[in-house]
Amino acid sequence: MIEISVDLGPDSYPIAIGHGLAASLPRLLAPLAGRRTVVVSNRLVWSLHGRRVEKALRHLGDFARVLIPDGERHKGRRTLDKVHDAFVKAGLGRDGLVLAFGGGVVGDLAGFAAATYMRGVIWVQLPTTLLAMVDSSVGGKTGINHPRAKNLIGAFHQPKAVIADCAFLDTLPVRQLRSGAYEALKCGLIADRGLFQAMRKAPAGLKGWSRVEIENAVASACGVKVGIVEKDEREDGLRRVLNLGHTLGHALETVTGYRRFTHGEAVGWGLVGAAWIARRRGILPDEGFDLVASAVDHLGPRPRVSDLPGPSILDAVGRDKKVRNGRLSFVLPVDIGRVAVHDDVDRGEVRDALRVMASREARLS
Ligand SMILES: NC(=O)c1ccc[n+]([C@@H]2O[C@H](COP(=O)([O-])OP(=O)(O)OC[C@H]3O[C@@H](n4cnc5c(N)ncnc54)[C@H](O)[C@@H]3O)[C@@H](O)[C@H]2O)c1
Ligand SMILES: [Zn+2]
Repeated sequence: MIEISVDLGPDSYPIAIGHGLAASLPRLLAPLAGRRTVVVSNRLVWSLHGRRVEKALRHLGDFARVLIPDGERHKGRRTLDKVHDAFVKAGLGRDGLVLAFGGGVVGDLAGFAAATYMRGVIWVQLPTTLLAMVDSSVGGKTGINHPRAKNLIGAFHQPKAVIADCAFLDTLPVRQLRSGAYEALKCGLIADRGLFQAMRKAPAGLKGWSRVEIENAVASACGVKVGIVEKDEREDGLRRVLNLGHTLGHALETVTGYRRFTHGEAVGWGLVGAAWIARRRGILPDEGFDLVASAVDHLGPRPRVSDLPGPSILDAVGRDKKVRNGRLSFVLPVDIGRVAVHDDVDRGEVRDALRVMASREARLS
C-alpha cells in the first residue's frame, strides 16, 4: 500500500493506494468506527463491487445505502434531494459518516451532500474510476451541476480519507481507464517528469497495464495534485495550473454537448492544443511539442475533432471563465514537468492549435 498525506492543517487526511484495500476498510476506517454511516453509490458500481465493501463495513457497524442513477446528467439537484432524504431516513446525525463509493459523479455529489447536510458531516471517498483516483477525489472540491452550467453549485469540503483500491479498475471499460490516464499524463506534464515518462512507456492504449504501474501512476498523479492543493487549497492562484489542457478540453466538451468525448479524451486533445500554442510562442521547443503530442496519442484513440465548427469552439473558449481583457488565459507547458500561465493568448493562436489538432487525427486510426 502506498500512503500519501495531504497536509491542510486541521483538514489534513491520508490517501491510501493499493490493490484489495476494500478488505482492509475496517482497519483503515477504524478511527471512524461506531459512526452511523450512509454509503452513496450507483447501481452499476454496487452490483460490481458492493459485496466486498458491504462485507468490510459490517465489521464497522450499522450502515445504510443510497444508490443514485448512473451518469453526469444525474449530478444535479434532484439527485441531491434524494440523497439528503436518505440521510434523514437513515437517522444520520452530525456525528455520522458519508462514504462515497463510485466515480467522480458519485464523489462530487456525495461530497456536496455531506458538505451541506447539517452544515457539514464528515465523509470518506472510495473512488472506483481512474479519473476519480487521480483527480476528482483529491482536493476537496464537491458539487453538482446546474441545468445551465456544469459544477455551478458546490463547496470545498475535504474528506477524512481517500482509499483508492485499484482492484476496482479491473471492471472499468478501457475508454474510462484512458480518460483517467490523460489526466495522469497532464499531472506529469505539469510537475513530474518521471510520471510523464511512465505514461509514455505504458502499453499502447493501456491494454495490459500492470497493477504496479497503475498504482505508481495513481500515487504520482495524486502527489502532483496534493503538492499544488496544499499550497492553494481554494484555487486563488497556483491551483489554476491544474487546468492545463482544460481550456480547449472544456470547449470541445461543450460544443459536442458532452456526448462525444470522455472528459479525459477532451483534455488529451487540449494538451496537444496547449503544447502547440507553447511551441508557436517559442516557449516549448519543437521536440517538446512532439513528445507531448506523441505521449497523448500513445494512450489511445480519441474521437475526432476535425468536423467540429471552429468558430463555435473559439466562442466556447472565449466564454470560459479564464478569459481576461479579451485575451485568453492558458496554462502552457514550457518543458516536460514545468508550466507557465499566459494571460494574453489570442484567437488566432487557438485557431491554429485547432488546425494542428485536426491534422494529427490521421495518426490515431
Ligand atoms: N471534484 C473535482 O475536483 C473533480 C475533478 C475532476 C472531475 N470531477 C468530476 O468527476 C466526474 C467524472 O468522473 P468519472 O470520469 O469518474 O465519471 P463517472 O463517475 O460518471 O464514472 C464513469 C462511468 O464508469 C462507471 N464506473 C465507475 N466505477 C466503475 C468500475 N469500477 N467498473 C466499471 N464501471 C465503473 C460509472 O458508473 C460511470 O458509468 C465529472 O462530474 C467531473 O465534473 C471532479
Ligand atoms: Zn479534468
